[in-house]
Amino acid sequence: MSDGMTYIHDIGQFTLVCANCGATAAGTSKRFRCACGTPFDLSLDTLAQDATVEALRARFAARLSALSGPERSGVWRYRELALPLADEHIVSRQEGNTPLYAVGAAEREAWRSIGVYAGVEALYLKHEGHNPTGSFKDRGMTVGMSIAKALGARAVACASTGNTSASLAAYAAQAGIPALVFLPAGKVATGKLAQSVAYGARQIAVAGDFDDAMRQVESVAERLGIYLLNSINPYRLAGQRSIGYELLHQLQWQAPDWVALPAGNLGNTAAIGAALVRAAEVGLIARVPRLAAVQAARANPFYQSYADQWRGFAPVHASTRASAINIGAPVSYARARAMIEATRGVVTEVTDDEIFATKARIDRAGIGCEPASAASVAGVRRLVREGVIAPGETVVAILTGHVLKDPEQATASEPEAGAEVSDLLRAIAETLQASSPRA
Ligand code: F0G
Repeated sequence: MSDGMTYIHDIGQFTLVCANCGATAAGTSKRFRCACGTPFDLSLDTLAQDATVEALRARFAARLSALSGPERSGVWRYRELALPLADEHIVSRQEGNTPLYAVGAAEREAWRSIGVYAGVEALYLKHEGHNPTGSFKDRGMTVGMSIAKALGARAVACASTGNTSASLAAYAAQAGIPALVFLPAGKVATGKLAQSVAYGARQIAVAGDFDDAMRQVESVAERLGIYLLNSINPYRLAGQRSIGYELLHQLQWQAPDWVALPAGNLGNTAAIGAALVRAAEVGLIARVPRLAAVQAARANPFYQSYADQWRGFAPVHASTRASAINIGAPVSYARARAMIEATRGVVTEVTDDEIFATKARIDRAGIGCEPASAASVAGVRRLVREGVIAPGETVVAILTGHVLKDPEQATASEPEAGAEVSDLLRAIAETLQASSPRA
């Protein structure tokens, strides 16, 4: 590397630390829970700060012009702040680099319909569905799979509502490591299932829901020495932090007031929160944006705990149609809660009807997303109505997955079969009339 940065070659130099009891483990550990039961975090001490803010910004900007190599990736571009891993370990496919769409009510294009619906003048959609396998999971997976390969893992595994498994399958194939995915039988969207089959992962159908699959994979991985790549693995979360860094970079380091995202297993809430806090600590931004974590009302243990002033936390039986976030016992509860507190954030909930009505708006704008992703914008809309978010504040909502992930839930009406030409012409005339010219 020519930029003077020290990259880590030996995974043992990383340290895992327990936020609850302070115990530590080597970065090479294949166990991600401390003896006290809390998932380990990656120690931030490893992310040594070797550059001034100006130098960091200049490095990130220069790497935008990379045409190949790790720094072409929207994850590894920020590796000083995500994971300063040396090139030889990196399994990457140019993930990240996702668009930030301006859709606020103050915009002039048709996309402003989304901002009008949400009630926000300056609204941005960070579309993580534009990752190589169509969801934000690729950002954590490039890091997790790089570590798995560096440690010589003989197999990798995860439990998943569908996106993590699609991502794991693709990156495992690239790394040349056999992959096992534990899926709740009958509860995974078609597009996601098709991906893990196509990429060659071995699927294990678990009778029950995601929470059952998660319990199974944790015990199987431990017994068989298989490297676990759920977001309980802190390296996954290190990669997911890059969503925060990239969106701040795209806003030219002007912090938005809010960052809203769908919340399920809570890894992403923890990771993005950590990135926002870190970016302010380092001086890349002047203040920490507030997190708004949005749960489906029928899979809302995090919201319930928040609404109860964090007095308790009880898993629920989840049953939302937004299958990606159909999770009742989130693994990253404690670290996500810490990030809501550190960012003066909020947690809210939205009904399935609100999620699907919002998805229809995002789809009709030509942008599209999977159901769980629409929860972020639905949550913003609710928080504006409740007076928590002011219409003049700047909001970034994360769209976590692509519209093609869940084709059964597409909101377009079916074309009429066997219509006469005269019917078609009438339908066309109606469509043209309905799209009134702009004033
Ligand atoms: N949105 C989508 C599209 C997801 O796939 C997930 C999680 C989330 C939001 C929630 O993120 O779990 O970090 O709070 N999907 C996981 C999976 C559980 O297995 O693909 P989280």
